[in-house]
Formats: sequence, C-alpha cells, structure tokens
Amino acid sequence: MIIKSIELTDYRNYDRVNIEFDKGTNIFYGDNAQGKTNILEAIYIAATTKSHKGSRDSEIVRFGQSEAHIRTVVETDGIPTKVDMHLRSAGSKGIAIDGKRIKKAAELMGICKVVFFSPEDLNIVKNGPTYRRRFIDMELCQLDQFYLYNLNNYNKVLNRRNQVLKDIYFDRSLEDSLVVWDDQLVSYGTKIIERRRKFAKELEEEIKEVHSRLSGGREDLSIFYEPSVSEDDFEKELRNNRSRDMKSKMTNIGPHRDDFSFMAGDIDIRRFGSQGQQRTAALSLKLSEIDMMKKLSGDNPVLLLDDVLSELDRKRQGFLLDCIGDIQTFITCTGIDDFVNDRFVINKVFYVENGTVRNCS
Ligand SMILES: Nc1ncnc2c1ncn2[C@@H]1O[C@H](COP(=O)(O)OP(=O)(O)OP(=O)(O)O)[C@@H](O)[C@H]1O
Ligand SMILES: [Mg+2]
Repeated sequence: MIIKSIELTDYRNYDRVNIEFDKGTNIFYGDNAQGKTNILEAIYIAATTKSHKGSRDSEIVRFGQSEAHIRTVVETDGIPTKVDMHLRSAGSKGIAIDGKRIKKAAELMGICKVVFFSPEDLNIVKNGPTYRRRFIDMELCQLDQFYLYNLNNYNKVLNRRNQVLKDIYFDRSLEDSLVVWDDQLVSYGTKIIERRRKFAKELEEEIKEVHSRLSGGREDLSIFYEPSVSEDDFEKELRNNRSRDMKSKMTNIGPHRDDFSFMAGDIDIRRFGSQGQQRTAALSLKLSEIDMMKKLSGDNPVLLLDDVLSELDRKRQGFLLDCIGDIQTFITCTGIDDFVNDRFVINKVFYVENGTVRNCS
C-alpha cells in the first residue's frame, strides 16, 4: 500500500497544496516552523483520523478559517482509493471514501496503515506510562476495529463515571447511578485488557529478536504487560475501590492506568536503565512496530520519520534503513546533506518554505 498524493486546503499553515509522492523515499527539508511536520501529521490523520500529537481539529484548521480538507489517494495492488477528510473548527469530522460518506471512523480502517516515528518516541521507555499506553493504542486501533470500538467506548464511559464521582461529592444520592457505568466500564475494559495482553505477547517475540540484533546479541530485552487490574478481577476491584474513587473523585483502577515494563535480563530499564539502554530499547520497539504492522496486516505500512534520523548515530540509522526495505517512507529534516550517502536511495525531494512545497528532485 502506498500514498499517491495529498491535497491540503486551509490545513495548519497551508492555504492550498497538492503533492504527488514517490512510492519509495520522500524527503521534506526546510528551516524550522515551515510546515514539514504538518505534512506528516496530515498523512497520519488521513490514515487514522487522529493527530499524532493529539491535536484537536479546531487547532488544525488554519487560523481564521472554519474548515480544512485533507484529500489523499491511497493505492493498494494498483487500485486507487480516494479518502477525503473535512475538519471543522467547530463540529465533528466528515470522511468520504471514493466519494461516499462514511458514518464511523472504523470504516476507514485497513485502507492505510502508518507508523509515525519522532524523536519523542526515543523517550518512550524513560517517560511515564501514558506514552507507552499511547503507543499500544495507536498500533492496536489501526489493526483491530473491535479494539478501536472498545477503547472509544471505554473512554466515554470513564469520563461519564468520573463526572458522576465528582457530582456525588455534592449529592450523595447519585451513588446508586454508578452501577450502570461500572457495568459498562467492566464490559469494555475487560476486552481492552485481553487484547493488550495478547498484543504484548506478540510484540515480545518480535522485540526480542530485533533487540538482539541491535545490541549485537549482548542484551536480552523483554516486554511485559502490567495491567492495573486483571480481566478477571476488574469487576470486583472496581467495587472494592468505590469509596476510594469517591474520595478522590476519579476512577483509580482500569486499563487507563495500565503500563508495560521493559526488562533487560532482570533489570527494569524504565527505572534502572542507562539513557543509551533506554533509547536503544525504544528504537527496538519502533522497529518491531514496523514488523508487527507488516505481519498482522499482511501489507506494508507507510513510515513517517519526523526529524528522527539526526537523533540516531550512523549505526542505528543503518538498522532503521534496513528495516525500511520497500516501505514507502516520508522523512523530514532541516538539511539533506547528511542523508546523501551510499545506503540511502532518495526518490523525491521537497523543499518546504512558509506553507509551500516545491518538488526539487
Ligand atoms: N492552525 C494553524 N494555522 C496556521 N498555522 C499553523 C496552525 N498550526 C500550526 N501552524 C504553524 O505551522 C508552523 C509549524 O509547522 P511545522 O510544525 O510543520 O514546522 P516544521 O517545518 O516541522 O518545523 P521544525 O523543523 O521546527 O520541526 C508554525 O509556524 C505554526 O505557527
Ligand atoms: Mg517539525
């Protein structure tokens, strides 16, 4: 699967731009704050409906405008699919596939798979659990529409339950209404826990192999799922924690508190790893993500590398480039000199300046 082209209208700092991509490596270079990352973000949104930065649609629409458009053409086995997205500064997104409006974002699934890699991802092992949950959610939401459905509903129910917990503080009689939310939270949450557990197992096999290669066989890396509560105990524990939840006015257990540990032998490198060890493990995770995407979806994802090559030494760049193979890749950087080396085949180069994109290949 490849992305043939993208057209942006009133998107971030772009008034209007239309770009035809190469099926190989596409480079976007230019000074800071010119709009390079914005292009990768638009590709990511076209594939997943969400911004990799978690931005709201109202932040994405060009300042002073009320709506933005992202129009992409995706090609799978020579067959093109048009994906049109309509973002509003107030209101929800509209999406059409080949001119036909879709009602649920889940219908977009399977058309375009992406892996986004930014320097921030190299801190995923060192940072807090939110980042690790985000990683697994970004991956699973693309691969499994039931997961996407369960996660969206879980988050909605969680917000409602937390609101009720706040309201109970003023009106004790509302406590009885909690049971409705508890049932739903357990129903969606249990499925999320089960899916994450399965995914962590699959990831574990992949990352072991990748990391062994990256560390020259010196380090054995494992990843373990650490659910806040197990699927079997969720219902019971939610009940046991009710008075604590009411006191703190929020839900203290559930998949929204899950984590994943990274173990090098017996050492939990989230806490005790050296910086280099944590970054190498993070790179192993991203490389495994690419392999997992290929394996689980049976197709190549599109790879978005935002300013990440300059963060890696030559050896690690090499590992990443080996992984790319025939995957369509989009790279942003401030200068292209570093990349013109014998290993790197650049198919198209775009110069980005103040919301304009010039093809200079
Ligand atoms: N909604 C918006 N409307 C107009 N401009 C916006 C909007 N959101 C962001 N921008 C502008 O987009 C520019 C940033 O673009 P982007 O992040 O793509 O830069 P970049 O080329 O990747 O820079 P860097 O090299 O620093 O990463 C900023 O100048 C910012 O003000
Ligand atoms: Mg950028």
